[in-house]
Amino acid sequence: MEFRIRPLTVNHCARLLEFYTTLSPDVTALFQPFGPHVTEDTIRRHLAETDADKHISLGLRAEDGPIAGHGFILFTETDRPVFGIGLREGVHGRGLGRRLMQAVLDEGDARGLLMITLTVLRVNTKARSLYEKMGFVVKGQATFRDANDSWYMERSRADGEMAGWRRQVPNRSLAG
Ligand SMILES: CC(C)(COP(=O)(O)OP(=O)(O)OC[C@H]1O[C@@H](n2cnc3c(N)ncnc32)[C@H](O)[C@@H]1OP(=O)(O)O)[C@@H](O)C(=O)NCCC(=O)NCCS
Repeated sequence: MEFRIRPLTVNHCARLLEFYTTLSPDVTALFQPFGPHVTEDTIRRHLAETDADKHISLGLRAEDGPIAGHGFILFTETDRPVFGIGLREGVHGRGLGRRLMQAVLDEGDARGLLMITLTVLRVNTKARSLYEKMGFVVKGQATFRDANDSWYMERSRADGEMAGWRRQVPNRSLAG
C-alpha cells in the first residue's frame, strides 16, 4: 500500500476527527495532543488555525483511505513551537513515522523555525529514539499524568547545524 503525506486543511475535519476517535488505547496512552475526549470543535479549530498559518499539520494516508497518521507543529508564530506525531497502530514500524516526521520538520525549516520543542513520556523509548535521530535533545523533564513522567526535548537549528543533521537530510516534497 502506498502512503502519501499531505497538508491538512479545514476540509479534512471529518477525516481527522475519525482518526482521533478510532485510535487504539495503546496509542492514546502515549499520544493525546487534543486531550482524552477529542471533539469536532477542537479539530475544526485546529484546522482553521492551520489554514491561517498558526500551525503546520500533515496527514499520512493511503490513496482514498482513512488518515493513518498525524504530524504537526503547533504555535509556529511563537518562540517555542510544539511538535507532535501519532500513527494508527496497524502501520507502526514500517518507516512511515520517520517519513511523516521528516516532512513536518522540512516544512518547519522552510518556514524558518529556529526552535521546535516536544514532550515524550519516559516509557515511550521508541518515540524518544526517533526524536533523537531527528535532532531533538533532552533538555529537562515534564509532567503529563504523573510528576516528571516525561522528557522535554528541543531541536534548535543552531545545534542541529553544528551536529551536521541538516546536511544529512535530503530535500523532500510534502508528497513524501
Ligand atoms: C512513535 C511513532 C510515531 C514511530 O513511528 P513508526 O512508523 O512506528 O516508526 P518508524 O518505523 O518510522 O521507525 C523510526 C524510528 O523509531 C524507532 N522505532 C520504531 N519501532 C521501534 C521499536 N519497535 N522499538 C524501538 N524503537 C523503534 C527507531 O528509532 C526507528 O528508527 P530506525 O528506523 O532507524 O530503526 C509511532 O510508533 C507511533 O505513532 N506510536 C504511538 C504514538 C506515539 O507514541 N506518539 C509519540 C508521542 S510523544
